Amino acid sequence: MRWLLVLPILNAVTVYYSEAVTYVFRDTGGLGRKFDGIGGLSGGGATSKLLANYPEEQRNQILDFLFKPNFGASLQILKVEIGGDAQSTDGTEASHMHNSWDENYQRGYEWWLMVEAKKRNPDIKLYGLPWGFPGWIAAAPQDPYVDPQQTATYIVKWVQGAKMHYNLTIDFLGIWNEKPYNDTYIKTLRKTLDANNLRNVRIIAADDNENGWAIAEDVLKDSDLAAAVDYIGAHYPGTVTSLKALETEKQLWSSEDYSTFNNETGGGCWARILNQNYVNGGMTSTISWNLIASYYEGLPWYRAGLMTAAEPWSGNYAVDSPIWVTAHTTQFTDIGWYYLRHGYGVGHLEHGGSYVSLITLDKKEFTIVIETMSHDHSECVRPPLQPYNVSASQTVTIQLEGSVEAITEFEVWYTKLSFDPEVKDVIFQKRQPLKVTNSQATLSVGVDEVWTLTTVKTGNKGSYPPPPKPKAFPLPYHDDFEGYEVSMEPHNLAQQLGSFEVVAEDNNKFLRQMVLTQPLMWCRNSAEHMLNKSFNIIGDYSWENVSIRVDVRLSPVNGTKGVFLGARVNQGGCVSYDTTGVFFFVFPDDNFYILSQDLMRSQVVSTGPINCRKGWNTFELRLWSTGMFGFVNGQEVMAARAPSLSSSGFLALGTDTYGLADFDNLLLKKSPIL
Ligand SMILES: *[C@@H]1O[C@H](CO)[C@@H](O)[C@H](O)[C@H]1NC(C)=O
Ligand SMILES: *[C@@H]1O[C@H](CO)[C@@H](O)[C@H](O)[C@H]1NC(C)=O
Ligand SMILES: *[C@@H]1O[C@H](CO)[C@@H](O)[C@H](O)[C@H]1NC(C)=O
Ligand SMILES: *[C@@H]1O[C@H](CO)[C@@H](O)[C@H](O)[C@H]1NC(C)=O
Ligand SMILES: *[C@@H]1O[C@H](CO)[C@@H](O)[C@H](O)[C@H]1NC(C)=O
Ligand SMILES: *[C@@H]1O[C@H](CO)[C@@H](O)[C@H](O)[C@H]1NC(C)=O
Ligand SMILES: *[C@@H]1O[C@H](CO)[C@@H](O)[C@H](O)[C@H]1NC(C)=O
Repeated sequence: MRWLLVLPILNAVTVYYSEAVTYVFRDTGGLGRKFDGIGGLSGGGATSKLLANYPEEQRNQILDFLFKPNFGASLQILKVEIGGDAQSTDGTEASHMHNSWDENYQRGYEWWLMVEAKKRNPDIKLYGLPWGFPGWIAAAPQDPYVDPQQTATYIVKWVQGAKMHYNLTIDFLGIWNEKPYNDTYIKTLRKTLDANNLRNVRIIAADDNENGWAIAEDVLKDSDLAAAVDYIGAHYPGTVTSLKALETEKQLWSSEDYSTFNNETGGGCWARILNQNYVNGGMTSTISWNLIASYYEGLPWYRAGLMTAAEPWSGNYAVDSPIWVTAHTTQFTDIGWYYLRHGYGVGHLEHGGSYVSLITLDKKEFTIVIETMSHDHSECVRPPLQPYNVSASQTVTIQLEGSVEAITEFEVWYTKLSFDPEVKDVIFQKRQPLKVTNSQATLSVGVDEVWTLTTVKTGNKGSYPPPPKPKAFPLPYHDDFEGYEVSMEPHNLAQQLGSFEVVAEDNNKFLRQMVLTQPLMWCRNSAEHMLNKSFNIIGDYSWENVSIRVDVRLSPVNGTKGVFLGARVNQGGCVSYDTTGVFFFVFPDDNFYILSQDLMRSQVVSTGPINCRKGWNTFELRLWSTGMFGFVNGQEVMAARAPSLSSSGFLALGTDTYGLADFDNLLLKKSPIL
């Protein structure tokens, strides 16, 4: 029998289990699985959008907190979206092939991010996965497997482009994010990689969410498929796997996990799954969605990243607790270490929480990570199993056997997350070494704590001076697009549908909407509502009385017929089809406008004539209280008084259908513009 002691200390009451429980750590008699690393996911989609245009100083600091070894999160894997021109959660990422005749490796920011990660850690592993696909990939709509060879070639070109243009080696490829896999396609992808001398690119399948381990059954039945699939990756597995998945003897990954607000709740969730994905599910890698919350507040899943950097105009950012929770594992392990066996260094603590331990193959370095997150505080989006709850402190005796028996001292790193606003967190604190006597050490472990006990001496809590103070998005805001390299996405314009990039012509740079046909959508609801519109937001979701002005030209070749300016735009993401606000659609060739209260143009307020020139015209939308005013080349053509469906939101621009359209000299201002 164990008893509970209740000691009143000041006003608080501390409950702890008096009796120490002994846990054996032994490497003899076999090891557990090989450790494959902890990662972060940029994309799925556009989650790093605002990071690229941070001031250089802060941008380098942020990248250090994410990737630099022995500094911050020290991530071991970077997973990125292979852009597909389709909305993939917080925006659209550009495809390297908008069309079958087009190939371009300068678009977006994932290339840049991978280069920066590799600069800091040459050993970081890179993993690419598509969400949507450009329309030409799906001859019959919404299926990338109609022509498996064409899709495999498209993906392999992305891998080759990474090498050719950036000297980046892609280590892992996935199939189709959270969508059905197709055996023929997986085998075709393997063959196409091999045929292109890319045998070292490993395939992870199938990044499924609802029924993550289902592919294991096919792998067990089909030896060709088994040969093509290197790793089984499931999303949000809730720390558990399936018997079939274990039977495959493949390495199992939680290839996307977390998705939790990055305050203490997120840090606690992350601590639990990093340990328990192995303890309960034998998973040897866990990847956080997302890497960094660099997308506007007001878009879905705000701050569901390991840290936050969504203010490039101020340079403000926050290194949130999940960064340091990651460090508890990553700074004291490497890919290729081995977990000890369950019961001999891996398991649940008697009074709640869990522990894992990892060792190098040469047995020279050894690390133990203990977490005691309470369920009440640290809930994840898909809660891990709850066989043990933590409600009290407990005394843990560590007994070392086998080659770790000779260890005499551990370095100690400690975190305690406080869920009381009056009590500060203790974050990744280096403590006095823990002495090991006669191969035994004893530790008192409280609630909501993470402990790393390790022989590794290079741990370090990296730091920089505090970043600049937060600021509102600066107005007026002007962009003539002259400052960008061709093909880049402009700063702060967060594309939600379609793909916009800088084009140069006759010594002028401007912004072009590039997508010609409906992509193969990732969002289920967008597929149902084939909007056919492009849609790009900018600014602040709380704006009311603002105006947007821009020069526009329709392309005579493959052009769209109409463009729009939007204000008080209430949302983006997968619900873009349902977006409300004030939308001033103009049709320059046909000389009319439509004022609508929604992006779909189903809530029309008014229509009327306009008078446009050939080529470039200037359009403007001004909002003032209940007034909405539209201008063409400086002339007021529309004035309406109506309460709008949304009272505040982003500014926006876009096209009425897919097709080329050009935008230049964007100007955002507080209304009225005098
Ligand atoms: C996979 O794709 C191929 C080629 O399009 C098709 O013939 C096959 O039916 C698909 N398999 C499944 C299970 O959908
Ligand atoms: C490309 O990267 C490899 C490491 O992956 C490095 O050894 C090589 O020097 C690099 N090549 C160039 C041209 O930078
Ligand atoms: C653990 O706590 C959760 C929520 O607090 C509760 O639902 C669950 O039943 C508890 N489990 C055990 C084994 O006590
Ligand atoms: C963290 O944020 C979430 C979502 O806003 C909230 O539900 C939770 O209570 C917060 N946790 C703490 C510890 O503040
Ligand atoms: C969008 O375009 C597709 C073909 O690309 C067409 O089938 C669909 O009807 C269009 N939807 C709308 C709302 O115009
Ligand atoms: C327009 O589309 C056609 C195919 O429909 C293509 O051959 C041509 O290159 C496109 N031109 C531009 C400028 O996109
Ligand atoms: C917008 O303008 C109206 C009318 O003048 C005013 O009542 C409201 O406070 C303004 N909103 C903001 C955020 O300035």
